[in-house]
Amino acid sequence: MILVFGSINMDLVASVAAIPRPGETVLSRGYRTLFGGKGANQAVAAARVSADTVAMVARVGRDGFGEACLANLKENGVVIDHVVTGEDPTGCAFIAVDAVGENAITVASGANGAVSTADLPDVLVSADTLAVMQMEVPLEASLATARRVRAAGGRVIWNFAPATDLSASELAEVLAATDIFIVNEHEAMTAVGLLGAAPPSLEEAARIIAAEGRVTCVATAGAAGAIAFGPEGTRHHAAALDIRPVDTTGAGDTFVGILAAEVAAGSALIDALRLASIGASLACLKVGAQAGMPTRAELEAQARAGV
Ligand code: RIB
Repeated sequence: MILVFGSINMDLVASVAAIPRPGETVLSRGYRTLFGGKGANQAVAAARVSADTVAMVARVGRDGFGEACLANLKENGVVIDHVVTGEDPTGCAFIAVDAVGENAITVASGANGAVSTADLPDVLVSADTLAVMQMEVPLEASLATARRVRAAGGRVIWNFAPATDLSASELAEVLAATDIFIVNEHEAMTAVGLLGAAPPSLEEAARIIAAEGRVTCVATAGAAGAIAFGPEGTRHHAAALDIRPVDTTGAGDTFVGILAAEVAAGSALIDALRLASIGASLACLKVGAQAGMPTRAELEAQARAGV
């Protein structure tokens, strides 16, 4: 069973010629209201490719965004029985996407800020649980949940996104509660800085995090694909597809969701890495975090066609 413990947002997405600098106002012709939130995105990415149960523990508000987000998760096959509806408004993300598909995101956390490990029923915690964490709900709640899952013999994937302010000791606690730690370049450099190192490359940062944290560290590198280091220094690399991105929002979440699905199904890490890299590339071909996430059939067809 894949348990995604994390955020649900409604994304308000505006296309802009260039992302505004501090103090600048830019105009966009309009905006789209799209489903998002790192946790919800990862759950949908996993559910689209996995035969396993994918359940979310999260919170939404008693509002239209919350209702729509829950309906979307359900439609995508995510179990929402343990999502709490409360008084805080549903989380909302304000996203500007520029002409080359890069984005800048502001998240108003709302209900995500009230997520607690008390929301997670014992029935979802077992040796069969693969838990997926991110950084958009309170850290103490994610840490407590990760520890519960591992104490039951389950495994934890922790996506260090977004890389928020964390102390060195908090990062040490996260790594100690994690089996697979997933970062992009910015997140890798933030984490490795907290470990007291300043490596010259993403590759070296991932190697240090894996060795110091005694975890498998997976680093996504956009067009350069993804690399993984085991704690003993074993290295894997998977290529991305050669694409022209339309919108990179949700690409990292697609990677995490597919990697989780493959790891839960017992795939070797290199195979999981390859499929996750292909899926993340496909996710960049449509506007919005979830629109381009592949189904199992699409993912396998692309894998057969090669990168
Ligand atoms: O990773 C992309 C996601 O980050 C968006 O869907 C947005 O909601 C923010 O959480």
